[in-house]
Amino acid sequence: MAATAGQSDSPQALLTACISKAQSREQLWVELTQSAGVQRMAEIGVYRGDFAAHILQRCQGLTAYYMIDPWRHLAGWNKPANQDDAVFEEFLREAEKKTDFAAGKRVILRGKTTEVVDQIPDGELDLAYIDGDHTLKGIAIDLQRLYPKVRTGGFLGGDDFTRSVWQHGAAFEPTLVFPYAVYFAEAVGATIYALPYSQFCLQKGDGSQFAFVDLTGEYDDLGLRNQFTPEKLLKLTLWERFPRLMRIVRKTRDVRLR
Ligand SMILES: C[S@@+](CC[C@H](N)C(=O)[O-])C[C@H]1O[C@@H](n2cnc3c(N)ncnc32)[C@H](O)[C@@H]1O
Repeated sequence: MAATAGQSDSPQALLTACISKAQSREQLWVELTQSAGVQRMAEIGVYRGDFAAHILQRCQGLTAYYMIDPWRHLAGWNKPANQDDAVFEEFLREAEKKTDFAAGKRVILRGKTTEVVDQIPDGELDLAYIDGDHTLKGIAIDLQRLYPKVRTGGFLGGDDFTRSVWQHGAAFEPTLVFPYAVYFAEAVGATIYALPYSQFCLQKGDGSQFAFVDLTGEYDDLGLRNQFTPEKLLKLTLWERFPRLMRIVRKTRDVRLR
């Protein structure tokens, strides 16, 4: 990592400063990448390359940007971003085109995390950004396989740290980045921060620093029980099947409560 003014700050102060300057998820990671002096980073789940292009355009200190994505249809990955092989082939071309200006820094690793991650040496990364498979299986694999790739003092962050596991509704597999990433941080003894825009970031330390620092004030329940009660599932199903009727029911109830 390059020496920067932000590096002497505590991680919490650094992240708080980044939050105060950012108006979007992309800006937040640009701020962190710049102020932490990140040189080598990886993005897991690249899709059409928009995030990669955004970061590469604004973070001149980067010397290597690993792009991990299978860019192929994944049987058993029940999420809306899953596409046909032909569409993914097109998305790969698009991602390449959007990042061609940084071809000397870009390292395209086409494959699932488990298939390609070991092409990155252990301790190589200043920052890994996880935005691939957000199911329990996916986030468990990505955190476990990326953690050794991050150097001590480096950051491991990601997207879709959503309070609700029903991010994509009952027809799709639940999103388990939250709370699983918090459990993972406890297992490895790292401090994990909840950030705005449904982002999380943990810093790899000496293994004795577990804490969950919620910089948003939104993550009050670290358990799962309340999201899987029969009442919750019934409500979810009713909202998905009969949204107009449910809106009328809600309005009527609100009027009665007034
Ligand atoms: C939501 S998109 C990523 C969006 C992108 N990070 C952005 O901000 O522009 C999710 C991507 O994860 C990839 N993906 C799904 N399962 C994966 C796995 N097991 N390993 C690596 N990437 C995976 C998909 O191919 C898809 O392109």
